[in-house]
Amino acid sequence: MSPISRRDLLCSGLALSTSSLVARSAWARTAALLAGVPGVAAPSALAPREQLLFDFGWKFQFGNGIDPAKDLGFGMNQEAFAKTGDFKFARVGYDDSKWRALNLPHDWAVELPFVWDDTLGSHGYKPLGRRYPETTVGWYRREFEIPATDAGRRIAIEFDGAFRDVLVFVNGCFVGRNDNGYAPFRFDITDFLAIGAKNCIVARVDASLGDGWFYEGAGIYRHLWLTKTDPLHLGKWESFVRADLKGDAAALSLSAMVVNEGKDAEAAGVSWQILDGDGEPVTTADAPAQQIAADGTASFVTTAKIARPKLWSVDAPNLYTAVVTVKSGDKIRDAERIPFGIRTVRFDADHGFFLNGQPLKIQGTCNHQDHAGVGAALPDRLQAFRLGVLQQMGCNAVRTSHNMPTPELVEACDRMGMMMMCETRQMSSSPEGMAQLEVMIKRYRNSPSIVLWSIGNEEWRLQNEDAEEGAKIAATMVRRCHELDPTRVVSAAVNGDNEKGVSDALDIIGFNYGLNRPDGYHKEHPTRPIYGSETASTIATRGVYQTDPLRNTLSAYDVNHTVWSELAEEWWTFYATREWEAGGFAWTGFDYRGEPTPYGWPSINSQFGIVDMCGFPKDDFFYYKSWWTKQPVLHLLPHWNWEGREGDEIPVWVHSNLDEVELFLNGKSQGKQKVPRLSHVEWKVRYEPGAIEARGWKDGKLVLTEKRETTGPIASLRLTADRSAIDADGEDVSVLTVDALDSAGRAIPTAQNLVNFKITGEGALIGVGNGDPNCQESDKEPRRSLFNGLAQVIVQSTKTAGTIAIEASTIVRGSVVAPAKLAITTNKVELRPAM
Ligand code: GAL
Repeated sequence: MSPISRRDLLCSGLALSTSSLVARSAWARTAALLAGVPGVAAPSALAPREQLLFDFGWKFQFGNGIDPAKDLGFGMNQEAFAKTGDFKFARVGYDDSKWRALNLPHDWAVELPFVWDDTLGSHGYKPLGRRYPETTVGWYRREFEIPATDAGRRIAIEFDGAFRDVLVFVNGCFVGRNDNGYAPFRFDITDFLAIGAKNCIVARVDASLGDGWFYEGAGIYRHLWLTKTDPLHLGKWESFVRADLKGDAAALSLSAMVVNEGKDAEAAGVSWQILDGDGEPVTTADAPAQQIAADGTASFVTTAKIARPKLWSVDAPNLYTAVVTVKSGDKIRDAERIPFGIRTVRFDADHGFFLNGQPLKIQGTCNHQDHAGVGAALPDRLQAFRLGVLQQMGCNAVRTSHNMPTPELVEACDRMGMMMMCETRQMSSSPEGMAQLEVMIKRYRNSPSIVLWSIGNEEWRLQNEDAEEGAKIAATMVRRCHELDPTRVVSAAVNGDNEKGVSDALDIIGFNYGLNRPDGYHKEHPTRPIYGSETASTIATRGVYQTDPLRNTLSAYDVNHTVWSELAEEWWTFYATREWEAGGFAWTGFDYRGEPTPYGWPSINSQFGIVDMCGFPKDDFFYYKSWWTKQPVLHLLPHWNWEGREGDEIPVWVHSNLDEVELFLNGKSQGKQKVPRLSHVEWKVRYEPGAIEARGWKDGKLVLTEKRETTGPIASLRLTADRSAIDADGEDVSVLTVDALDSAGRAIPTAQNLVNFKITGEGALIGVGNGDPNCQESDKEPRRSLFNGLAQVIVQSTKTAGTIAIEASTIVRGSVVAPAKLAITTNKVELRPAM
């Protein structure tokens, strides 16, 4: 995100000071209005809000899940919560000098070694849970100043999400708890703070219990914020903008809630300024002042109109911003930015999905939230990196299986034109289940990328034996979704026949797998829209072309799936050829830790991904790209390094959307074939070293060729960065690929060399990976083996501008082969306001 554009600023909801931006003319025109927007300088007490990133400068140490003596004494004599104010570890001056210094987001699970214990497989064999008390509880501690000028303001600590049970203490007092791993939570800590003095906050995070059957990480793995507001302020996630497209104008319904936490009743009004994607004012609206009682709230609604709006779509993700301002008299008391988009979405039982009135198949992928090297603690930039990988193969939608996503993923989808099915974790109408659902909808209902809500996944009891309860639970949840957001339909991912239970309540019907079901269902229920909530679960190891159960690897030809699932070609052919199918979400876009299917230990991650843990494409990526994009595609597999297999028949496949492909072995034609629609072409070729080459024709013209050559031994390494200049903000990252080349400069697809990294200058290594589902090397050490030719290194900037120098080297037969060197520039940027 370098350099930060005004558009990024307006759309991200992130905070920046105005000072660097006033020079820009369009911005200057709206600067007056934006004074008071989160993050914009708030010089005096009772000034508008500040939203401060609270990620930097933490101390961390492990506690203990069973022994209070090893858990800072917490819970000793069963008196954990006996007295308010007695928690010494959360008092200023407590000695944390031996604690480890770190910044958030932080996932300690990814730092732990792998442990062979059958009970740990689903979470990726990390020693977490009640059997591992020593590595399951983490304490975070931070001392911080609250200036005297904050007197009279409301101050809240806001977590975007942490895994999992969190207890928060401020200045010796217990202030609140949260016990799920994905929903955001906040505590108003005003009463506990010392103003004009040093304060202390501590969070005890306990990952003993899990929410899912997949890797979930451990710790404060999303951002943390300290938010300061006037006592008269906007209600959290209460502001929303609904756009109703009528003819060539959008009718906006604008809504906000003002909370008065002051001692006296006050009169306040709310105004809205709508800005377009360039920050230009488009229209304004006001809601008249109301008297708001002390400790009371008031709702404000009004309307506005945008003539000829620029619609949000996957090709043109146009965004608008509503600047919502609370005023009493002439005084601005609070303000916030609400990015939103204008688009129409429709699911039709006969014709599938429509975006802005145009039919569009959902070409989706389900994804968990972890990445190589960093686990669940993704720097913001990685969200865009991952979406970029998926977009390259034509993926236009992601399903946040099976939990509420982090805000940066939703914002990246809004900005990049990726649609989203947004799913809550717990299917339950219990207070906890409803709280998770409500916060998800309130938090994200302004995001144009979200095209449907999901109330859960594969709740087999609620779909079958307990269908009656399932129907009631789902109905309560769906009703609440509609109340909070009447603009979107609600679904769930169902792995049954959808005939009873949960499905009764759904607006649209999601099928997980089971290609034998939708046809019959569609016939029986012709008015119910249908899509594939989860499909595929094709399994493949990147760069492997023979399934080998002894090595826990799977062939990457499109030939392996689990007993409950399908090949890429099978499911997509099914969905693509039925107009009434809105499309579907393949399980999964990225490989993820945990669920090491179909093998267990020593596999530590899944093999379902179309790309691996790092985002390196497996061959099916090009099947999807062929049929999900309009770009000409010609992808040839396998590689051509089959030493020792001379004379053997090797299956050679081409994924392509061209008309015809001809294959050559060392210049000799192996035949030309027509590419069947939604399929691929294949040959059997007797191996001889040299080159296989595919030539692809469209409309009688040769448009693409692709070659795989037998490579020689390693002669050098190569480093490539996704971006060679990043922000010097202590957050931004560059994602580097390392591969091995032979003396002719050809990448060696079979190289497995151990590569050492040296990082110097204004940055640090924050994670390494190679996409090998069986690799148990550390994610954090400065070394990694190549896996079938590739590895990934993620480096993060410091807050000082300069250069990050990365060197990759490997040793072959005692000598260092030509190392690779690369420099990343880190540019000075305005830092977002932080504690
Ligand atoms: C589904 C489930 C996913 C994942 C997948 C593996 O049934 O919803 O979370 O487990 O199977 O194929």
